[in-house]
Amino acid sequence: MDSIRILGGNQLRGQIKISGSKNSSLPIMISSLLTDQELVLDNIPNLTDIETLVLILKDLGADINYSIPKRKSSLSTTSDRIMHIKFKNIISNQANYEHLSKMRAGFLVIGPLLARTGYAKVSMPGGCAIGTRPVDMHLMGLKKLGADIKIEKGYVIAEAKNGLVGNKIHLSKPSVGATQNLIMAASLAKGESIILNASIEPETMDLIACIRKMGVDIDVHGDNVQIQGTINIKGASYEIMSDRIEAGTYAIAGCMTGGRIELTNFDPHLLESPFEILRNIGCSIKLFNRRIVIEKVVKDFEPAKITTEPYPGFPTDLQAQFMALLTQASGKSIINERIFENRFMHVQELVRMGAKINLDGDKATIIGKTELIGAPVMATDLRASVSLVLAALSAKGETIINRVYHLDRGFEDLEKKILNCGGIIERIQENKYEVI
Ligand code: UD1
Repeated sequence: MDSIRILGGNQLRGQIKISGSKNSSLPIMISSLLTDQELVLDNIPNLTDIETLVLILKDLGADINYSIPKRKSSLSTTSDRIMHIKFKNIISNQANYEHLSKMRAGFLVIGPLLARTGYAKVSMPGGCAIGTRPVDMHLMGLKKLGADIKIEKGYVIAEAKNGLVGNKIHLSKPSVGATQNLIMAASLAKGESIILNASIEPETMDLIACIRKMGVDIDVHGDNVQIQGTINIKGASYEIMSDRIEAGTYAIAGCMTGGRIELTNFDPHLLESPFEILRNIGCSIKLFNRRIVIEKVVKDFEPAKITTEPYPGFPTDLQAQFMALLTQASGKSIINERIFENRFMHVQELVRMGAKINLDGDKATIIGKTELIGAPVMATDLRASVSLVLAALSAKGETIINRVYHLDRGFEDLEKKILNCGGIIERIQENKYEVI
């Protein structure tokens, strides 16, 4: 298995083009199941999660091709390609464990597949180990739309012989995945559906914008989503939003190493809550149109209190990265994790690098400032892995990060982007250890 070696201590200075959002791309690719016409998607990132989903969709009958746009620049990323997906026919109604064990978002095929064909057999999902992550709300919502649901040998079997029928669905939590799944299913259901207490995360709004372009009438009032189902769903062209988690991560990398990073291809309004914290602890953030310049402007960061919440609150997907940053703040910082019950797997690894962090249930107390020292580390999930990259970039000496496949799932061109800004980072292929 590959690993990544980082020699810490260099300031990160330069420009980084933010890639397309992984968490937007996945449901939007899946929405191609709603029509037999072509969906043309721009700004899809080049990530292993995307490749896994391509395999899942191909198994179901998708024809997927790429074209290259004529806009290459020196800052272009490998995602500078356009994806064409077409489900002329559905050739299988089953999504297998082999792929779904690697990526939870694949489970979202169940809603549109059921809505289009009346039957779907989908493996219970895997993905990052950050909690039990049930799918009860997905299934409750599909039942409300008229589906019969059975669970057999790790698979969910959903059936609606006479098609789905619109209904009112009240989610007990604003689950991102359940909202997206049910919006897709309701788009092909007969009549109107309303999802109450829905996720209004930017990635859900991106999915809604794409499905609207495909011809479905969807209104959002506060956290209620109203969908007028139709059988006339057509193809569309759509540009995926940029990745707010990637942008937030590189913003921290610039600040944490005392450098200066310019983020391009990104709408700063998507990160208001994390940027407010960065400003409060001592960073300057200058906002331009789809461009942000960010740098540390104090000698030592101030501590902070952070609670993860649904959008527009602080995103759980930036919690681990902020924890790495707050090890460099003078004083006591507190992070409350309110979305996932097991999302502190990075703490032990940060502690091995010299951080002082105490855990008490869903609360982490970070005592700073502590000097971070490079070490061999590994992480069990995507965002935790990148928090170790941040810690390593500002640590003294060399850090080896194992289980790189987590990073490859969610961060496009990670090494290239960091190298371009002056960081020292390299991938070590298995069995190839040499000194930097
Ligand atoms: C999505 C994101 C993930 C992000 C998370 C929260 C993708 C591919 N992943 O994950 O990066 O961290 O939103 O912003 O977009 N829950 C239930 N029952 C359900 C569904 C969820 O109890 O049926 C719980 C979960 O265990 C969790 C909470 O609801 O505690 C939020 O989960 P959810 O919003 O569904 O996250 P995902 O869609 O899995």
